[in-house]
Amino acid sequence: MRLDVVTLFPDWFDWFGSQRHVANALAAGHELRTLDLREHTPLSGGQVDDTPFGGGAGMVLRVDVMDAALRAHYGVDPVELRRERRVIALTPGGRLLDDRLVDELAQEPDITLLCGRYEGFDERIVEHFASDAVSIGEYVLAGGELAAMVVCDAVMRKLPGALGHSDSVREESFSAALEGRPEYPHYTRPAEFRGWRVPDVLLSGHHEQIRAWRLQRSRERGATGDE
Ligand code: ADE
Repeated sequence: MRLDVVTLFPDWFDWFGSQRHVANALAAGHELRTLDLREHTPLSGGQVDDTPFGGGAGMVLRVDVMDAALRAHYGVDPVELRRERRVIALTPGGRLLDDRLVDELAQEPDITLLCGRYEGFDERIVEHFASDAVSIGEYVLAGGELAAMVVCDAVMRKLPGALGHSDSVREESFSAALEGRPEYPHYTRPAEFRGWRVPDVLLSGHHEQIRAWRLQRSRERGATGDE
């Protein structure tokens, strides 16, 4: 998979790219690149944003700046780009990110993430350049970069080779294997600490009973979104 992040803060992603599972995914041939909006702006002084028409606080990322950056990088009209790849605008008003969407994105060969800043994007960016608008939660961040990292993190850990153990992805919170529910609790050594004992069944070696206990605990922990 190739993940491109369009941002005003490309160096934030240096740290992100060094995280173990991301580094593993990159070593396995997946790519994470950044595209600096300021490098491509046609405006003087590195300007990328402007005051909102109609008044109001804050600044809005300009559509001509996003157009120039995408055009320079991909060599196509950005209106066409979303026919070739998922182009995701990160915005609090978008589709809420969940495991289903993460699974869907993990199947894509190419994704571009657009990070807004300040008051966000000129709406024409979302309308004409993006294939999707995605939110990581109903709260407002100062920009889309952390949201882009959340999306990249959740997607990249699903890629083959990112985690040491492929079962960790198959049977985890919200996965189909757990009927979309939160994961069961985990325990490790010591088996007893300050009188707090690990449930006997987990020490029993009865795999079928352990499986049934885990499924039951997962069911107790949460309802799925469909209930
Ligand atoms: N940009 C600002 N807030 C955001 C959010 N909650 N999700 C995605 N992008 C954002």
